[in-house]
Amino acid sequence: MEGTIVLVTDRPDRSAALAAALRTVGLCEVVGPDESWASGGFLLGVVSDLALTHPEAARCLRGLGRRYKGQALPVIGLLRRATIEALRHAKTLGATVCLPAYLPPETVAAALTIQIENSAPAGERAVVHGVARAGEALTSLLAEARSGSRIRMETVEVGLAPILTAVQEGGLARWLDTVWSHDDATYRHCLLVAGLAAQFALHLRFRRDDQQRFVRAALVHDVGKARIPLPILNKPGRLDPDETAVMRTHAALGYEILKAGGECDAFTLDAVRHHHEMLDGSGYPDGLSGEAVSDAVRLLTICDIYAALTERRAYRTPMRMADAMTVLKGMDGKLEAGLVQAFGRAIAA
Ligand SMILES: [Fe+2]
Ligand SMILES: [Fe+2]
Repeated sequence: MEGTIVLVTDRPDRSAALAAALRTVGLCEVVGPDESWASGGFLLGVVSDLALTHPEAARCLRGLGRRYKGQALPVIGLLRRATIEALRHAKTLGATVCLPAYLPPETVAAALTIQIENSAPAGERAVVHGVARAGEALTSLLAEARSGSRIRMETVEVGLAPILTAVQEGGLARWLDTVWSHDDATYRHCLLVAGLAAQFALHLRFRRDDQQRFVRAALVHDVGKARIPLPILNKPGRLDPDETAVMRTHAALGYEILKAGGECDAFTLDAVRHHHEMLDGSGYPDGLSGEAVSDAVRLLTICDIYAALTERRAYRTPMRMADAMTVLKGMDGKLEAGLVQAFGRAIAA
């Protein structure tokens, strides 16, 4: 199965056989109760081999429950004392099934497999997980940008792999459906563009690091909107020319915010500053044209416009997929026609 199983144990010296059995189900990571192990990979399930009477064991499992709330994560609690009290305690800490710790490792692995198969479909869970992780990354990023504190790119990194896994395992349509229901327009838009970028990168068979680079640029592309006054950003109607001019500063603002952080790569900086440039020179902020518009920008611009057209807006109904593609195709001269066609194939795949 695609995904990771975490074996959280306070006796790693005795965990080798169990870890080997769990590796027949998925990738297995062995961690202690104090370690930070929710590193962004898609989690298939957890096996807890902890003395539940120890406070750090309870803290670890409660933290797990909060992090994966609503995601139907299978958690096997191995009980060292198979008493009713121990069983109740494990259940209150979030174990979905409890087994005696002395069972053969193969039996534990088989029980976990059944739990995983009986939980929500893996694709569905991958999307819920991906949207949650990407949402956390975006929330931190926008909060840092809004407050003027230095942007730390590590806050963004944890969201990238889950977005790609979600789109790959759960499909673009499920990603879009999940994200579309979000209330905050900026947040929703950035997650839509990130999902479309992931699908585009997967379809174009980018190398894994290039996929992550492109999704990173997509997720952060509108970070400058964090500094746009809310009455303009959230105006429930069309912007007047003065407001439009303010709104358009978000591209250069985003670039300045990320550059000031000192951690952002040149690829992302270019994408953030130039994602409203058009091949015919009619875009902003620098009026770039032709060759001066990088490949990354050409791809991102298509995802960005498609997302904007198909989003809910207070003043218009969202466009259907086919109509949005017609608009993109009509922008010949501004967008690269071959890439628009490739995008159309990617989102239909
Ligand atoms: Fe933008
Ligand atoms: Fe955008």
